Amino acid sequence: MTPTFISAEAVPSDTEVLGVPVFADLNLPAGAGATVNRRFLSAMGFEGRPGQTERLQAEDGSIVVAVGVGPADELDTDALRRAGAGFVRSVGRARRAAVTLPAAARGRVAAGRAVQAVVEGIALGGYRFTAHKAQKAGQKTASPSLDSVAVIGADHGVRRGQLVAAAVLRARDWVNEPPRSMTPRHLALRAEALASQTGLDVDVWDEDRLASERMGGLLGVAAGAAEPPRLIRLVYDPPAARGEVALVGKGITFDSGGLSLKTSDGMRTMKGDMGGAAAVLSAMGALTALGVRVRVFGYACCTENMPSGTAIHVGDVLTARNGTTIEVLNTDAEGRLVLADGLSLAAESRPDAIIDLATLTGGQRVALGSQVAALMANDDKLAGRVLAAAGRAGEPAWRLPLWPAYRPHLDSEVADLKNIGQPNNASTIIAGLFLQEFVGGRPWAHLDIASPSWSDTDDGWVTKGGTGWGVRTLLEMLKEWEALRGR
Ligand code: BES
Ligand code: MN
Ligand code: ZN
Repeated sequence: MTPTFISAEAVPSDTEVLGVPVFADLNLPAGAGATVNRRFLSAMGFEGRPGQTERLQAEDGSIVVAVGVGPADELDTDALRRAGAGFVRSVGRARRAAVTLPAAARGRVAAGRAVQAVVEGIALGGYRFTAHKAQKAGQKTASPSLDSVAVIGADHGVRRGQLVAAAVLRARDWVNEPPRSMTPRHLALRAEALASQTGLDVDVWDEDRLASERMGGLLGVAAGAAEPPRLIRLVYDPPAARGEVALVGKGITFDSGGLSLKTSDGMRTMKGDMGGAAAVLSAMGALTALGVRVRVFGYACCTENMPSGTAIHVGDVLTARNGTTIEVLNTDAEGRLVLADGLSLAAESRPDAIIDLATLTGGQRVALGSQVAALMANDDKLAGRVLAAAGRAGEPAWRLPLWPAYRPHLDSEVADLKNIGQPNNASTIIAGLFLQEFVGGRPWAHLDIASPSWSDTDDGWVTKGGTGWGVRTLLEMLKEWEALRGR
């Protein structure tokens, strides 16, 4: 459970553990609320790295945690988020905590944003997926015991931090749920519940509707699965909306590769192949509360990718919603097939921008690793917005070129396109070039989050399993959308 956050002006008297910010030079900012012994800290190897912590016992038995925030002149929201995450991992079994971490921000990060980052760090770093842990009597619970955290600083960042973190954690929960209990139908139920809680409109297309709507890519991938596919559409339409944005998420609830079967090890994390859809749907659940003022459509293209007697063959030709025919030469390149339909559909309302999130290629990890998503876009202005929002959110992205000279790699002998290029040759870019064929010339940005959306380690605000990557970028971008429009 996420602790309750309280905004306070001073440290509450019943606080059991207090987190104070310590810079890399071991100085504390004004307003830290406690002193620490620098000589002890340095003897214990504490260097004030962002998120580094050292527990110190105070005279009255309460605990002060020195929390590193890095050099004062480099302080940013990322350091504060890491500090929050480090702190929550150091509280042990305390129930009531307080932090003065936002005091470190003075002059470098606006007070509200500092508080938001600290709250995000605490909520995200303290997350554990415990839904399937048997709770035996007397056994220490797997979830942290923390009930409340008093955040000393500006009050207006607390609510925003909580809203944003809740959306990220919801996406993590959906990704972490075993594939058998997070099928396309389950995900649709979650989206429907979220829509009714947050005042969004929701549509779910079943297999019959998908057929009558000519969603040949999604149906092709779904052909091998016993579980039926779903196209989920959420609509956020605030009064006097300014502009329209479409979000599209890859929602493969399990990617076995299909007949082009993956290895066992290759499937280990493939319940997470719906991380893009989870991010899109879950982020939309926060739009109402955040007061976003742009109309947003969210599409999740959901199916399993399974091998069976009914699965698509290698060599089959599918017709996507926009009429483009696709020769399937590797059934494991399935994400682009479902997104072909999702992007075609999203483009039909002629939105100002289309942004898709997808765990699309292993090549993303080769190129950029787990800490940087790959961005591709057909529009420089939109690319700039996404990069800026991702940077502010602490979910950095780096742009790769949609290199036109590589487009012939996708030429097919029998159809308009084939679904793979050449082995080990710019596979992330090739996938982006494939998707570009379906956006109808609308401004479009593609985030390949294959590696960042899953983690095998706890690190800063990232925890093991699904990371919820992309939720904060989307919310950061949509919040600023109006201000950036027309630039
Ligand atoms: N879902 C995978 C991509 C992936 C791999 C995500 C590892 C996260 C971790 C995708 O469907 C896939 O299998 N891509 C193939 C495409 C290839 C066959 C052209 C890839 O990138 O290897
Ligand atoms: Mn695949
Ligand atoms: Zn996949």
